[in-house]
Amino acid sequence: MIKIKKRKILLLPGDGIGPEVIFEVKKIIEWFNKNKSLDFEIEEALVGGASFEKYKSPITDEVFYKALESEAVILGAVGGPKWDGLEFSKRPERALLKLRKELKLFANLRPAICFKQLVDASSLKPEIISGLDIMIVRELTGGIYFGEPRGIVPIENGERKGTNTHTYTTNEIHRVARVAFELAKKRKNTVTSCEKSNVMEAGMLWREEVQALRDKEFKKVELKHMLADNCAMQLLREPKQFDVIVTDNLFGDILSDEAAMLTGSLGLLPSASLGAKDKNGKMRAMYEPIHGSAPDIAGKNISNPIASILSLSMALRYSLELDVEADLLDAAVQQVLDDGLRTKDIMSVGKKEVSTTVMGDAIIAKLK
Ligand code: IPM
Ligand code: MG
Repeated sequence: MIKIKKRKILLLPGDGIGPEVIFEVKKIIEWFNKNKSLDFEIEEALVGGASFEKYKSPITDEVFYKALESEAVILGAVGGPKWDGLEFSKRPERALLKLRKELKLFANLRPAICFKQLVDASSLKPEIISGLDIMIVRELTGGIYFGEPRGIVPIENGERKGTNTHTYTTNEIHRVARVAFELAKKRKNTVTSCEKSNVMEAGMLWREEVQALRDKEFKKVELKHMLADNCAMQLLREPKQFDVIVTDNLFGDILSDEAAMLTGSLGLLPSASLGAKDKNGKMRAMYEPIHGSAPDIAGKNISNPIASILSLSMALRYSLELDVEADLLDAAVQQVLDDGLRTKDIMSVGKKEVSTTVMGDAIIAKLK
């Protein structure tokens, strides 16, 4: 067998259920190495609370440089109650924010897809969500998450004042909107841009600049503007009206959780955080399941590895130009769901409940 492709993938399992779901991802990468003439070099490193325990820092420089050198980073999850009391700079979430910011991963793609096998898992009526397929594009390196000034300072009368700053520049808006328009062209050709232009200047700028980019470069894509609070409401009322949603960092954080939960199965949804392409066409990227670290069920072998496995599939597609392999993996996941295999989080009457590892093995069996 001729080995033709050599790619470096960094696995950052993190905290809670992160390590167990990433273990299943690793099994699948190894399967691809062995059976599909691929030669992925897998590296693994500590991040989040796990890194803090060992190095007193949520991410070391060494791990950060490893991420810089990898073609794709796949992260499990970070955080847990154990580290809640730590100061901001030491908290597990800082690792995530540092990777996003310093790798310049400004476009966060969060699909909310309702798997046909799981229509009944949603708290919404089946007719509202069956066939749902939304792509949320969340700006990830700007806005109130990173704006300056920020901080907590004492003021008169023993009171304190907390400040965060929300800013966006034309370029920051254009580069993420461009990603949304490009995606829409391959989908239903519609972008909904969300902000609060009725109360925020930065929201007004967002609206004007998204429109300007559309008029200049994407005349064939339909663009709608929607206030973010209305979008939250419309997602519950009639989610299938949306194709691609583009929005800022904070609104994207909130709307993507809402959209994900519409599908009833947080354990199934992956995400991709992408940077700009360099002159060789290479792009930095990090992939992660959208569920969190779920410390309450960690270590019990009951978590759902599918969101992480589909994050690998996104990595194959967006970073490694391996669409055929990504299709194969997506199909394998569909088949195990068709067979009625379910981890506890998506279990329903008449289905077969399986563990994390059995789910991973079943997906590998379908790849064959
Ligand atoms: C997310 C998470 C993070 C965020 C946290 C863990 C910092 O909620 O990826 O959506 O707020 O961006
Ligand atoms: Mg969030």
